[in-house]
Amino acid sequence: MYRTILLLIITSLSLFWYSSLQAQAPEPNYDETKVPEYVLPDVLKSATGKLVRSQREWERSRRGEILTLLENNIYGQMPKVYDSIRYMIVSENKMSMQGRVHLKEVLIEVFNQRKSVKINLVLFVPNNAPKPVPAFVLINHRSKDNIDPARDTKSNFWPAEVVVDAGYAIAAFHVDDLAPDHKDLFINGVLELYPEQLKADNGMRAIGAWAWGASRVMDYFQKDALIDKDKVVIVGHSRGGKASLWAAAQDERFAICVTNCSGNTGAALSRRQFGERIAVINTAFPHWFNNNYKTFNNKEDSLPVDQHMLVALIAPRPIYATSASEDLWADPKGTFLCLKNAEPVFSLYGLKSSLPKEQPPIDKPVIQSPIAYHNRAGKHDLTLYDWKNFIKFADYHFKSRYK
Ligand code: GCU
Repeated sequence: MYRTILLLIITSLSLFWYSSLQAQAPEPNYDETKVPEYVLPDVLKSATGKLVRSQREWERSRRGEILTLLENNIYGQMPKVYDSIRYMIVSENKMSMQGRVHLKEVLIEVFNQRKSVKINLVLFVPNNAPKPVPAFVLINHRSKDNIDPARDTKSNFWPAEVVVDAGYAIAAFHVDDLAPDHKDLFINGVLELYPEQLKADNGMRAIGAWAWGASRVMDYFQKDALIDKDKVVIVGHSRGGKASLWAAAQDERFAICVTNCSGNTGAALSRRQFGERIAVINTAFPHWFNNNYKTFNNKEDSLPVDQHMLVALIAPRPIYATSASEDLWADPKGTFLCLKNAEPVFSLYGLKSSLPKEQPPIDKPVIQSPIAYHNRAGKHDLTLYDWKNFIKFADYHFKSRYK
């Protein structure tokens, strides 16, 4: 009897909880005519109202101001200090991929407050490329099969053969090593090293932990003589693309940022309220962003930032953002507009973006630019088409522009 009553109470409470979540989460809008009028915060206007006019002013005041706003309101703090780090080559094959490639499986272990996290890095370095070699690193949130060091499974999500044949090293790590992608389990990883973060409303959460992991991979690259540490491209798709943006914004050692179909709280403008919304992402993935971000559910206009300001933090380093034509959830047009609105900061560095005024047509990439973009025909994914364009982009910046 008691059990039945208890069960009834629990069921009705969870129904109530579920319907209140539904009420919080608005229906997605896919109609361009229903995009509300919005005014983006001016990326060049500091909190005191002063307009930034030079690179120096940007770097001295406004850049840091925006970084803090993004930390406090969205992504959380990024702890930079730890007790120690060690690197162990757990497996190595200098003649992998029929002799073309040097494979290293590296265990990166980071210690803090008597705890440690272990990051498993898979790294392929082309044998015939001049050393040190530039590298791509993927933040992998999909199945580990995608980054199979044995190459029994090959996937276009991480097309290692294609990338090494183009003369680049390619590396990847899995987000689970840093923070499992689950609302209760994400605390098992980096957050054990920084438990105070969990108590803070502006503390680090899962996306921050993944970006932190990317920086530890960068720490390792400082020590690997095969890798050109000044030419490392950080790549992420979707939730991983939100993390690649945050990693590159935080860590200026990343030379190029690639953010593929990153959508809401990635490279799409929040104020357009098109496709996924802040209330939706915070409800479905409460562990991705900090507590403060929840106060902006259904209040996009009151955020002191929008995503163009995150993109602007990458300047003057090149950034490539993509969309997929059928991926309206991630707002292709809002992604393009986000890049456009970051242009003034690249201009401060004398860098002229080649992006047209209007969103380019499907499958017409704009690559020869500090800010690159394409809208690939098809669905939400990271494909060979995307990677081939990222290689062209890296070639353009690393080979033609700087040499
Ligand atoms: C969900 C989520 C997106 C995210 C995507 C992904 O669709 O709502 O914000 O980008 O998953 O990571 O694939």
